[in-house]
Amino acid sequence: MDDAAPTDTQHIIPLDQVDQSMVEQLLDRAFGPDRHARTAYRIRLGMDWLPALSFAAVDDQEMLVGTIQLWPVALTDAEERAHPMIMVGPVAVLPERQSEGYGQALMLASLSALGPNPALPQMLIGDPEYYSRFFGFSADYTSEWRCPGPWEPERLLVRCANPVILPKQGILGPWRG
Ligand SMILES: CC(C)(COP(=O)(O)OP(=O)(O)OC[C@H]1O[C@@H](n2cnc3c(N)ncnc32)[C@H](O)[C@@H]1OP(=O)(O)O)[C@@H](O)C(=O)NCCC(=O)NCCS
Repeated sequence: MDDAAPTDTQHIIPLDQVDQSMVEQLLDRAFGPDRHARTAYRIRLGMDWLPALSFAAVDDQEMLVGTIQLWPVALTDAEERAHPMIMVGPVAVLPERQSEGYGQALMLASLSALGPNPALPQMLIGDPEYYSRFFGFSADYTSEWRCPGPWEPERLLVRCANPVILPKQGILGPWRG
């Protein structure tokens, strides 16, 4: 993994310290205003993001540049057993500030907050070229997982210290406890 520690010009702060309307504006700019129809939103429908694991990136001028939100979700298997997981994302960086390291710094903040041996697998829908390369996410174990909406199998990724614990099949959805 490349070293993506925040630089002198990147500041990572808890997301709950940021005006939430600014977060929504940033997400609209990164993903477009139709982002709510995405399958990723359906997987975590009705959930609140996890404050201890969600962060914002601001620059030296205290301008909001990027955000990351993590959510409680579950993969429910054929026997109706819910296997809790952490959903990572959206990770969003303002279009004009991309490729400055903010995305990696945000990911590193959230993955570090999970601790060195996270109890729960982390999943996301995203570009494998980015999330495999820097953070060890893989589509190798998700080929028989389903989502509550359209998805591209190569973009359904999971990161888990011990993949043997992962259910082979199931459908992703919100964590209902
Ligand atoms: C994807 C995203 C979060 C990456 O953040 P970033 O701050 O731009 O990227 P970083 O500075 O951390 O990393 C830059 C490196 O990652 C690569 N990279 C960035 N986005 C990539 C992507 N979608 N796929 C593959 N590689 C990517 C860059 O080419 C660069 O590689 P290099 O160092 O070899 O030149 C950001 O580009 C973004 O917000 N995109 C739009 C929203 C999105 O698609 N989010 C992800 C899905 S949840």
